[in-house]
Amino acid sequence: MNKKKIAGEKAAEYIKDGMIVGLGTGSTAKYLVARVGELVRSGLKIKAVATSKATEEQARELGIPLLDVNDVEYIDIAIDGVDEIDGEFNATKGGGGALFREKIVASLAKEVIWIMDDSKLVDRIGAFPLPVEILPYGYKVTLRRLNDLGLNPVLRMKGDEVYVTDNGNYIADLNLTKPADVIDIKNKLDNTVGVLETGQFLKMCDRIVVGTDDGAVVYEAANGAGK
Ligand code: A5P
Repeated sequence: MNKKKIAGEKAAEYIKDGMIVGLGTGSTAKYLVARVGELVRSGLKIKAVATSKATEEQARELGIPLLDVNDVEYIDIAIDGVDEIDGEFNATKGGGGALFREKIVASLAKEVIWIMDDSKLVDRIGAFPLPVEILPYGYKVTLRRLNDLGLNPVLRMKGDEVYVTDNGNYIADLNLTKPADVIDIKNKLDNTVGVLETGQFLKMCDRIVVGTDDGAVVYEAANGAGK
């Protein structure tokens, strides 16, 4: 049973005619986008904003109408994957490197859904290295600063080359010492020059859709809108 597929396809049920939809990035979101492509072929009328070049390409191939993020005032629903998430819906994202666009899209959305297989559910986030997008200019200075803060940054590589995001920036993956205090880390990152955006998505969703051996399970955020 493909749990990512189960989650992606279940989440697509929340998409209704006329919506502007934020399409996530990653191996779980790929199933969502594939399902949205089928629905569009069957007559669903939506427009989508992609969170990465890869998702944009997949959506275009499937004939999903796309909008530039600059041309939308809001997004009705954003659906995306996570790398790990705790019981309070604090999530780490950006394993696929698309965190900056993912956060912009989620921040524009009236409703946010995170999709995942059940391996992503954790008691406390912090085991998955926290991705942070940093400016190439002075990146060694930024890495040194992150290191001095005890955040153990590792510059993300792709083979022998530095990994470059869709935005032309670099990623530092932070190997946090456990247990991670998310607010303390957030404050440190907010105050570090050179850090452009982080993969901390704290209480930023309305519901999560989890693929399990027994099918899709939906959990609503405690206070309705999670944002
Ligand atoms: C992309 O940058 C990420 O935020 C992904 O959404 C996240 O890494 C989940 O990816 P998978 O669905 O591939 O596990």
